[in-house]
Amino acid sequence: MIITIASDHAGYDLRQIVKKHLIDKGYEVIDGGAQSADKPFSYVDAGIKVATDVTSGKADRGIAICGTGIGISVVVNKHKGIRCGLCCNEYMARMSRQHNDANVLAFGARVVGQALATAMVDAFMDEPFAGERHAVRVGQIGDIENELYK
Ligand code: RB5
Repeated sequence: MIITIASDHAGYDLRQIVKKHLIDKGYEVIDGGAQSADKPFSYVDAGIKVATDVTSGKADRGIAICGTGIGISVVVNKHKGIRCGLCCNEYMARMSRQHNDANVLAFGARVVGQALATAMVDAFMDEPFAGERHAVRVGQIGDIENELYK
């Protein structure tokens, strides 16, 4: 599975940890966004990178990090076909997959620590979509996109 990960400057340091964690687990990683924690880099550009990698099929799933996770999650969720969960605990990350079939995980580097971030990533990667009634609801989200993004 190919994972695309990008962050702004605020997420740079945590992104390095998460990237190594994913590579150690055997995932292929596409890395994007800020190239240092010191030079400002827009979370908008980082979010576009994650979203377009997923919507184009270049990556199977994405991880999006900024200071709070809010800005970048808003950006990725503007893209048709993206279902991004902004998560701040392992349960949310797990449920974003199980009930929402999330294809992008977002979190804030100024909100969660390293151990929580990698635990959320593991939950996001490992949890399957439950389907059934949840598939109907996810289908309704797709209907909204088809209606609004003509
Ligand atoms: C950057 O300072 C900060 O605004 C950004 O990382 C993020 O938290 C925005 O939502």
